[in-house]
Amino acid sequence: MGANFLIKESLMFFIDWDKKYELGIKSIDDDHQKLVALIDELLVALSNGKGRELLAPIIKKVEDYTLYHFRREEFFMKCAKYPNLENHIIEHQHFIEKIKAMKAKSRLNDSTVAIELMKFLKEWLINHIQVSDRKYEAILKKSGVQ
Ligand SMILES: [Fe+2]
Repeated sequence: MGANFLIKESLMFFIDWDKKYELGIKSIDDDHQKLVALIDELLVALSNGKGRELLAPIIKKVEDYTLYHFRREEFFMKCAKYPNLENHIIEHQHFIEKIKAMKAKSRLNDSTVAIELMKFLKEWLINHIQVSDRKYEAILKKSGVQ
């Protein structure tokens, strides 16, 4: 797979942060925006042909920041006594497992991992923000945690 393919592919996954992704809970919105920025950072690295050297460190940054964000979200959901907490935590765990698997693969220096990662991050994050996180939005706002 040549570098040109990566350039074309990577630009397709670029995410423009949009107000429609906001839940109206500042710390969570800030986290989501930061995660989008990290994904975009990866896309820029790939489009500049720096995927090979930057793939592993960026996956590590995404993993670290996601763990930090999930802890915050799960704490808020617990405080708000969100009834669907367990299912939400399971979604978070699936994400962490997938990232760990890709981190292991990224050591093989395979450019297909970069494509897989971009697809997964974009689809998972946007879907998670717009579907799963929307479900706790009302109860968190009502409880006042933020
Ligand atoms: Fe979440």
